[in-house]
Amino acid sequence: MPEKLSIVGIGGTTSPGSSTEQALKIALRAAEAEGAQVTLFDGATLAALPHYAHGAAAHSTEAARLVEAVRHAHGLVVASPGYHGSISGLVKNAIDYIEETAKDSRVYLDGLPVGLIVTAYGWQATGSTLATMRSIVHALRGWPTPLGAAIRSVSGMFRDGQCSDPGAAMQLDLVGRQVAEFARLRRAAPAILSTGPVEE
Ligand SMILES: Cc1cc2nc3c(=O)[nH]c(=O)nc-3n(C[C@H](O)[C@H](O)[C@H](O)COP(=O)(O)O)c2cc1C
Repeated sequence: MPEKLSIVGIGGTTSPGSSTEQALKIALRAAEAEGAQVTLFDGATLAALPHYAHGAAAHSTEAARLVEAVRHAHGLVVASPGYHGSISGLVKNAIDYIEETAKDSRVYLDGLPVGLIVTAYGWQATGSTLATMRSIVHALRGWPTPLGAAIRSVSGMFRDGQCSDPGAAMQLDLVGRQVAEFARLRRAAPAILSTGPVEE
């Protein structure tokens, strides 16, 4: 019996009942239903991370935990609110810690499926933020899943871990399942998704 797939969730805000965090949890539940073991770095945890600087992970237990979790992950789900048309500073700071894996044998997110979720009040910010997040994942050599969840969040849409909008709930579920399915595929055939060394 192979070890369970490890899927790491990163995202949310510090708002009570953060819709971004609830959206992320729905996607992670879907990955769990596919047999993955999930680890969540939520808004409160991200807020405890110092601003990233080279080697900063050595001075923060939470940061060290984040870097180790990413190092051993088979896939990620990242969820950000759209802030001024882009990814929030809180989520970007957490992603910056992935720089600590630059000299690992598996560099950054090389070959990893990454599910992306955006919540925002307007469609414009959901689209621009999702595009930015895809660019970030490409820069880190990850594989954004085919579906990215763009959620126009309205008050009361997320409650008690459930999403009342069936279309949004379906997107979140699919993102979680796609990450688990691609992670399983990669584990079965590691060479097909890895980009290998790249000359800079
Ligand atoms: C600093 C800030 C900037 C924001 N900028 C935008 C924006 O440019 N476009 C938009 O549609 N919503 C914007 N919003 C709304 C957030 O995207 C929205 O409230 C988000 O879904 C919050 O998620 P949460 O419930 O997890 O805190 C902004 C909110 C804040 C606090």
